[in-house]
Amino acid sequence: MELLDGKKLSSDLKDEIQAEVRHLTAAGHRKPHLVAILVGNNPASMTYVASKVKACNRVGFASTEMLYPDDITEAFLLRKIGSLNADPDVDGILVQLPLPAHISENKVLEAIAPERDVDGFHPVNIGRMVKGLPSTWPATPAGVLEMLIRYKIETVGKVAVIIGKSNIVGTPMRILLSGDHPGGNATTISCDIYTSKAGNLAHFTRQADILVVATGVPNLIRGDMVKEGATVVDVGINRIEDKSNTKGYKIVGDVAFDEVAPKCSYITPVPGGVGPMTIAMLLQNTLKLYKKQLGIDS
Ligand code: GUN
Repeated sequence: MELLDGKKLSSDLKDEIQAEVRHLTAAGHRKPHLVAILVGNNPASMTYVASKVKACNRVGFASTEMLYPDDITEAFLLRKIGSLNADPDVDGILVQLPLPAHISENKVLEAIAPERDVDGFHPVNIGRMVKGLPSTWPATPAGVLEMLIRYKIETVGKVAVIIGKSNIVGTPMRILLSGDHPGGNATTISCDIYTSKAGNLAHFTRQADILVVATGVPNLIRGDMVKEGATVVDVGINRIEDKSNTKGYKIVGDVAFDEVAPKCSYITPVPGGVGPMTIAMLLQNTLKLYKKQLGIDS
């Protein structure tokens, strides 16, 4: 069993991005600029946005954090996005999800110009991804693919089972694993809560050469649900109570790691697996949008 070390890989990717930014700024270009918008004070969202801003500093990007109380109106947020779309000094815009219930996620995500859509959540980017056209890929599934590629894990013709059908992870993950590009051309099976309710989850997970789990249910995947020699990618980030920890909680994934790891060829730890890769891919997306906006080839 080998750990898929997202922390190390993400650090390597950040070094590569930092070197490129140094090169570009030395040639007289401005820094890439990411704007992160956070509405409300969801503790997990606050942590994620803070990590994204910290990562921007690490690689030499400019970043702007826009924090708003959860009673702002949808119209206010749409106006903000409109002015950021028109700002030539902004390369990437992200609105941290989830949003408060009175603000339409779809309206907000569709208001971000596709060429500023660093999360790849705009229908234009999703449509282009489905068609295999150049587009911005959502950072978490893009990070999983990058991991598989860098660890030389074969995907072509392999059975990839994806558990979870969210717009952020599960659905784009299935599209990317089945698409015709490096890390793709797998035979994909998509499972969800109804697979579980029908009692069929283990039937599918046991077929997986590559199992990607993104449900938010701690310990969903047990040792007897995984095939010998599988690659297991745990996208879950769950806070569970832990009084022995000074924070009062600890982070666990969706996979019962101690049971599953001995059966695997490769497995991601939580924390230190997919999470850091998401951040690295967000930086990579920002850099790509920046280069496109400035007309820089590479
Ligand atoms: N909430 C959970 N994951 C994400 C993500 O990748 N991007 C944004 N904007 N919000 C999220």
